[in-house]
Amino acid sequence: MANNVGLPPGPLPAEGGDAGSLRSQSNAAQPRGGPSAELLLEATGLHSYYGVSHILHGVDFGVARGECIGLMGRNGMGKTTLIKSMLGLVRPKQGSVRVRGRDMTQAAPHAIARAGIAYVPEGRGIFPNLTVRENLVMAARAGVDGRKEWDFERVMATFPRLGERIDNGGAQLSGGEQQMLTIGRALMTNPDLLILDEATEGLAPLIAKEIWNIIRTIRASGIATVIVDKNYGAVMNLADRSAVIVKGRVVFAGTPSELTDNEELMHRFLGV
Ligand SMILES: Nc1ncnc2c1ncn2[C@@H]1O[C@H](COP(=O)(O)OP(=O)(O)OP(=O)(O)O)[C@@H](O)[C@H]1O
Ligand SMILES: [Mg+2]
Repeated sequence: MANNVGLPPGPLPAEGGDAGSLRSQSNAAQPRGGPSAELLLEATGLHSYYGVSHILHGVDFGVARGECIGLMGRNGMGKTTLIKSMLGLVRPKQGSVRVRGRDMTQAAPHAIARAGIAYVPEGRGIFPNLTVRENLVMAARAGVDGRKEWDFERVMATFPRLGERIDNGGAQLSGGEQQMLTIGRALMTNPDLLILDEATEGLAPLIAKEIWNIIRTIRASGIATVIVDKNYGAVMNLADRSAVIVKGRVVFAGTPSELTDNEELMHRFLGV
């Protein structure tokens, strides 16, 4: 890990070993807690495939306690595959995944969830036949260290809209409400890290704005977040650090402003 200390800010070469890494030790983007802050989640040299398609090409990625990382890249570049590879949903062929320093490369998804990592997947993850209340209550559990900061009342206070629909079935909710319920369920597990994959996709602007406000509240509560979203401006506003994936490689790791201030990079990596 120490081999990334001193990594200069800015774009990284697309090819080759450790160069494409997003490590908390890097000077390019130091976590809020400083260089020695605990890494909640750390991926090293991940290679993942779907069948014979080689999707991830040696990806390094790290999230420290309390920090917010914007993970960006155009369609099909490997963002979701990276997330799934860290959560036990896709088995990497090479590389390792550590949660709080413990090797969990081959761990089952539920074991990784129990280690404090919550996931809001693309699409929605609720039980359509259960009510809003049942969806939330079923998900409840204490955090890794026994924390119960997020409970039913706090989720209700954070999502007043869900309170109005408390006895409605999940299937009766609008897309935005279902997304809120998915996030609410994730919070009920008292995670240390919440990974949001396209949480605002397909939502009307007003409801998307509500979701962004909620993400901001979650971030302020001290939960680390990884945000994948096509609304780069909103992601950059929240993120402490950003990473860009192109064709399964991390091609940029740095602060959001290092990326947004560089029109050429924005265009080359993100097409904007
Ligand atoms: N289940 C799968 N089987 C085969 N190929 C897949 C599968 N899921 C994704 N892929 C391919 O893997 C590559 C990376 O996809 P991935 O979903 O990780 O990208 P992404 O960056 O999340 O894209 P998007 O922004 O569209 O969500 C793409 O070429 C995609 O077509
Ligand atoms: Mg995706």
